[in-house]
Amino acid sequence: MSASARSTLLVAGSANLDFVVRASHVPAPGETVLGREFATFPGGKGANQAVACARAGGVDTRMLLALGDDPFASTIENSLTDAGVTLQVVRSAQPTGTAFICLSDDAENAITVAPGANGALRGDELSSLQDVSHLLLQLETPIEAVTAFALSAREAGVRVVLNAAPARALPTELLRSVDVLIVNEGELAAITGHHGSVAECLEQLDVPCVVVTLGARGCCARQDAQFFLQSGFKVQAVDTTAAGDTFCGALVAALNLGDALPAALRYACAASALACTRLGAQSSIPQRIEVETMLRSNDRHAPIANRALAAYCGLV
Ligand code: RIB
Repeated sequence: MSASARSTLLVAGSANLDFVVRASHVPAPGETVLGREFATFPGGKGANQAVACARAGGVDTRMLLALGDDPFASTIENSLTDAGVTLQVVRSAQPTGTAFICLSDDAENAITVAPGANGALRGDELSSLQDVSHLLLQLETPIEAVTAFALSAREAGVRVVLNAAPARALPTELLRSVDVLIVNEGELAAITGHHGSVAECLEQLDVPCVVVTLGARGCCARQDAQFFLQSGFKVQAVDTTAAGDTFCGALVAALNLGDALPAALRYACAASALACTRLGAQSSIPQRIEVETMLRSNDRHAPIANRALAAYCGLV
């Protein structure tokens, strides 16, 4: 099948049930904080990204994931299927993955993941890639499996998108198979081992397209030696959990639908800003209609000036 006739977006990665406690601040090492409300939400970087792809609309989204044989698994499966994601589940004897999140009043968080079943994903579990245009990967599943998925996809002519989160050293063969790399500033520094400006760090990487998310500032991308900037959309943030995942899923969905990189970055920044206005991971991810409404209402959500962003990235 030619690359243009393929349309499915495949996510291979993690799924967790998130246990979230709100507190005045994230505790320092050794500190105990008395929190307030407690809630559980379907989460996990891979599953969040799959939901973001599906909610972008018009994209046939599939996900390969590993779950335990327990009630947490059905909560996650229901959330994904309700969003319109088709599942390929590897059933593990390990418990479904969980994440323990302290959410502070200034919308920041600290997350500890107990991977459980996510650790059971193996490199030979990828089913047919025949109709797949993009494979979206993250690093909450074993690195050997992620690398094997990327190599198989590259071999099959599928575009490989890697969100290198959480930060860790990447095998050279994995990085060589990636078409689009998405990282935050910390992950960029960890991968390049370079502590210069965003632009300088981007120049260290031999990947066709690298996108760096910069929180409320927006994002910066480098493709074919050209830089692209997208300022952030101003919102009242209540919970930044899954903002990065929303960005990744929305970006890949937009690219899959044929958007050029600048338009895809704009869509992804708006989707991720909206995700910060609601609690939870998958529960916070917006539908396309909400993102388009935000993009149209330039007055209320005007992006901050690109000049400040260019200076921050070391581009002026
Ligand atoms: O990126 C946010 C996600 O990180 C949470 O949903 C949590 O499950 C962890 O995987």
